[in-house]
Amino acid sequence: MTRRAAIVGNWKMNGLKAQIAEARALAQAFSDGLPDGLISAICPPATILAQLAEAFEGSPFAAGGQDCAPQASGAHTGDISAEMLADLGARYVIVGHSERRADHGETDAQVRAKAEAAQRAGLTPIICVGETEAERDAGRAEEVVASQATASTPDGALEAGAILAYEPVWAIGTGRTPTLDDIAAMHASLRTALGGRFGDDAAAATPLLYGGSMKPANAADILAINGVDGGLIGGASLKAADFGEIIKAYATI
Ligand code: 13P
Repeated sequence: MTRRAAIVGNWKMNGLKAQIAEARALAQAFSDGLPDGLISAICPPATILAQLAEAFEGSPFAAGGQDCAPQASGAHTGDISAEMLADLGARYVIVGHSERRADHGETDAQVRAKAEAAQRAGLTPIICVGETEAERDAGRAEEVVASQATASTPDGALEAGAILAYEPVWAIGTGRTPTLDDIAAMHASLRTALGGRFGDDAAAATPLLYGGSMKPANAADILAINGVDGGLIGGASLKAADFGEIIKAYATI
């Protein structure tokens, strides 16, 4: 079977309105379309999501949020619901990024509720998991990732098209990446864990992205790994030229 593949940019808390120029440049660079079988989205700060979605109109790129509240609306000052992201033109939303787990103490149960909210609003959740360096050093990386993934993914989510992203915490923004063998081993064990919990067919159909210091120089090697179905890219997604190089690297594998 052919799984969907995705290259997704996470701008994190970067970008004022002027950053939309990078989205326009991307739309222009890929006006003839993306490589076959690939979907691509940028998840900007919510403050410029509407402008980004507008800049992507008529292009092959989609817009996404970086987080959403579990509730649809109500007395939750400062929070943004999945319905609100969808209203601005989002089609995807990242949930459970390690920076939110660390900075805001988000638990697997909360991440799962956010993924459910995404689906309720018609968004595709991109559910993030990943071990810390201490967990890897202790030989617990696969166990930690399996446990996060199975507890953060709602029942029925994989059948509905959810995407998972493996992002080792120690590789994010550090320029360090796991070896290609380590990434391959993790993606295989993650898929096995998802299969054990949600069924092998659902696991086999689910795109598993890699994230953490992916850039034009290493993208082709990482994207070519069996079981890696794309990337979640932070720093290198801020410049259209770099993100475009990563998309082109996908086309060469
Ligand atoms: P970097 O690509 O900057 O390491 O960030 C990865 C990431 O956290 C994407 O969600």
